[in-house]
Amino acid sequence: MNNKDYYYQLAVLHKENLEQGFLSSLGISFLRLLYKEIDRDKDSVIISVKEDNRVIAFVSGTIKFNKIYKRLLLKLPWVIFAIFPKIFSFKVLYKIFEILKTQLSKKNKQKLPDSELLSIAVHKNFRRAGHANYLFLQLVKFFKSKKIDIFHIKVGEDLESAHSFYKKLGAIPQSNIQIHKSENSIVYTKNVP
Ligand SMILES: CC(C)(COP(=O)(O)OP(=O)(O)OC[C@H]1O[C@@H](n2cnc3c(N)ncnc32)[C@H](O)[C@@H]1OP(=O)(O)O)[C@@H](O)C(=O)NCCC(=O)NCCS
Repeated sequence: MNNKDYYYQLAVLHKENLEQGFLSSLGISFLRLLYKEIDRDKDSVIISVKEDNRVIAFVSGTIKFNKIYKRLLLKLPWVIFAIFPKIFSFKVLYKIFEILKTQLSKKNKQKLPDSELLSIAVHKNFRRAGHANYLFLQLVKFFKSKKIDIFHIKVGEDLESAHSFYKKLGAIPQSNIQIHKSENSIVYTKNVP
């Protein structure tokens, strides 16, 4: 599988399984670009599980998400092209502003570890087979190799299976966060043993 195909498959898996998230609403082209930049950043990682050369599950994480923002800013013309014509939607622009505000807020920075599990998704036909468990442990290994001792995860309030999953894996709910109006998320932290 070439890289173009790989990022496309990650984007599709993200959109199909995290459909309620804002990033999904920006479309496949944007998600493809996002995963390409995550993959190219040496302080970030994408780990995936493939079956018959198709990606069926993946996790992504980073030590500093701000580095991904910077990479995307450097690619601004491509980003605009990827989300065109959504760029003209006030709702979309406002949500981007809300995300940047949360990310840059000193208040949040003080509370949350920089390292973060960004996304995890398993294709519907392959769930409850331990794939996410495996990916989560691989991500923990990645953080350990980077000498990180704690990371955080933001989880939409309504994602019940995700909450059960993170609790089973030893993540601890710490606080509520509202990135977008009327969309609550719970922030978990997980110690790296
Ligand atoms: C959450 C998700 C990643 C779990 O993937 P998975 O491969 O099915 O999870 P695993 O098989 O590794 O499950 C590990 C444990 O998590 C818990 N768990 C996973 N899915 C669960 C569910 N639907 N209900 C209750 N507990 C669940 C269980 O304790 C499970 O252990 P068990 O099967 O021995 O009981 C998957 O359901 C998914 O992709 N959901 C949509 C995307 C999403 O919500 N991502 C998280 C966003 S922050």
